[in-house]
Amino acid sequence: MKTILITGASSGIGRATANYFSERGWNVVATMRSPEKETELNRLDCVLVTKLDVERKATIQDAITKGIEHFGKIDVLLNNAGYAAFGPFEAATDVQVKKQFDVNVFGVMNSTKAILPHFRTNKAGMIINLSSIGGRVAFPLISLYHASKWAIEGFSESLYYELATQNIKVKVIEPGNIATDFTGRSLELIMDESLEVYKTYHEKVLQKQMESFQTNVSTPELVAKVIYEAAIDQTERFRYLAGEDAKFLENKRKESSDDEFMKFITSNFR
Ligand SMILES: NC(=O)c1ccc[n+]([C@@H]2O[C@H](COP(=O)([O-])OP(=O)(O)OC[C@H]3O[C@@H](n4cnc5c(N)ncnc54)[C@H](OP(=O)(O)O)[C@@H]3O)[C@@H](O)[C@H]2O)c1
Repeated sequence: MKTILITGASSGIGRATANYFSERGWNVVATMRSPEKETELNRLDCVLVTKLDVERKATIQDAITKGIEHFGKIDVLLNNAGYAAFGPFEAATDVQVKKQFDVNVFGVMNSTKAILPHFRTNKAGMIINLSSIGGRVAFPLISLYHASKWAIEGFSESLYYELATQNIKVKVIEPGNIATDFTGRSLELIMDESLEVYKTYHEKVLQKQMESFQTNVSTPELVAKVIYEAAIDQTERFRYLAGEDAKFLENKRKESSDDEFMKFITSNFR
């Protein structure tokens, strides 16, 4: 039996993935910031619910140790925990900028660093990072989130080569719009009322983004399925898209020049 450790398993994609792997006979270390609130995953066989806050290194180490003690070893780390800051960059406070990177980038690096000694001892392992189609293309007013996901893309692509030397695979998942609490609990709205100049544009873009989340959206179970396919894929593949909107944007990006693509995005938010 194989074991996956998932960060951010309390909701959305992380939760769906915990269920999906458990239904297919995997052991799951379902980690979350508030495990005391969990009432369902801890009822499943072969699921260990435990605390992990990607901003607190001690909790990462503790969750890994508990997972290994409980299941013998960990085969796959899924770096899923994340959220999005939305709003004009100029309005973002230093705390908001730092927090976006603390969770989405340094959180992934912290968890990755903590699992590597175990994977090297086993001479095998896999790290799957939740990027986003927003790690390949960018929309207006999401500069911090895009910066964090583009960082994950570069980090992961470089690690792919480096860790292959240790028989450790690195993969990224790039979902489009997914119906989770991402636009609720995981959306931090950035606005400074004194920056009135952005107000109309901000409202228009936010409305467009929300409409797109209503009409053009896939389920977290679809992403869980893609993550599962990545986890059992024996090939050297690195990128996995999830959702028709992600595939459309990826194709559009590939077949357009930078100018053409950016005109296309501009026209969408005019
Ligand atoms: N939904 C989308 O459209 C979409 C698209 C592309 C990529 N993604 C990516 O998918 C991942 C999961 O998002 P989701 O859509 O499933 O949203 P979600 O349902 O809101 O889940 C976000 C998860 O991240 C956890 N989290 C936040 N900060 C954390 C921290 N410091 N330490 C540990 N866990 C933390 C949350 O835990 P708490 O319960 O403790 O808050 C929650 O479990 C994110 O990386 C996101 O960027 C989502």
